[in-house]
Amino acid sequence: MNLTELNRIATAMVVPGKGILAADESSGTIKKRFDAIGVASTEESRRAYREMLFRSKEAMSQYISGVILYDETIWQDAKDGTPLVKLIEQSGAIPGIKVDEGTQGLPMCPGELVTVGLDKLAERLKTYYERGARFAKWRAVIDIASGIPSMTAISVNAHALARYAALCQAAQIVPIVEPEVLMDGDHDIDRCYEVTSRVLNKTFQELRVQRVALEGMVLKPNMAVSGKKCAKQASVEEVAEKTIRLLRACVPAAVPGIAFLSGGQSDEAATAHLNAMHKLGPLPWGLTFSYGRALQAAPQKAWSGKAENVAAGQNAFSHRARMNGLASRGEWQSSLEQKAA
Ligand code: 13P
Repeated sequence: MNLTELNRIATAMVVPGKGILAADESSGTIKKRFDAIGVASTEESRRAYREMLFRSKEAMSQYISGVILYDETIWQDAKDGTPLVKLIEQSGAIPGIKVDEGTQGLPMCPGELVTVGLDKLAERLKTYYERGARFAKWRAVIDIASGIPSMTAISVNAHALARYAALCQAAQIVPIVEPEVLMDGDHDIDRCYEVTSRVLNKTFQELRVQRVALEGMVLKPNMAVSGKKCAKQASVEEVAEKTIRLLRACVPAAVPGIAFLSGGQSDEAATAHLNAMHKLGPLPWGLTFSYGRALQAAPQKAWSGKAENVAAGQNAFSHRARMNGLASRGEWQSSLEQKAA
């Protein structure tokens, strides 16, 4: 393992002004997104859509540090035969790959999930590295509801995250460690804080036990937010203040960067929260975005599967990327949110 090189890549992934595009939806998830805009999800439509994003010059060269790909995409070529990985590299961004294989029900723990995909991971990482991937992602899912999460679910998911992270570093790939506490319930922000704190503490404990070098990883956490169905929604300032307090308490300064998931927040809320956190600096780690939905909902709608809408889709993507790029420096203002396309 060359830790200097892993640290260089991790630092580049969270460089101020840029963040990560999570374009690694599984075939099932992208079908749901395409259903919402009335587009059939085929290998060709998925390629055309993602090629549109990766050819968005302004977004990709100025505001996107890295792209997380799905297995299908990393092997696909653009219409003119250029591998999509090459398009990403040519724009100056770093290609990455989602390597978990989704979740399964956790035995003995009703309603809870464990992420799978460790078998043969070492071999898969080797082929992804050869194809150009320099970082990877593994997402653990923790739900909040009555009586859950159990310590069992937190513990097995943290163990798997650390196993994955160690395998990545041994393969010279930077692991994005993503323990996502879902925002689906009716819990308040303080319950989200408390559960996320347990999850992060257990995750870092496992990372240490399994000898993962913290300098060569990126953390992808949820923010401390109110559950979607909670009657009392926390303000932007409260989300920023509690999230930064939580991260300061749980994330060692040796970690080069933190890149948030958007998790179902509205586009503008995801941007406003990140921006407000940067008003609370200086911070010990880089702090940016690794958004899926909050970067792609607008371009998906503008594109709607039509070749004549590619420029509109790229404008919408560039707008959201620019807004989040500004937020990663604390330089965003809501007045900049005029319609893009
Ligand atoms: P969202 O920003 O849509 O939550 O997706 C980010 C991601 O990569 C989840 O694993």
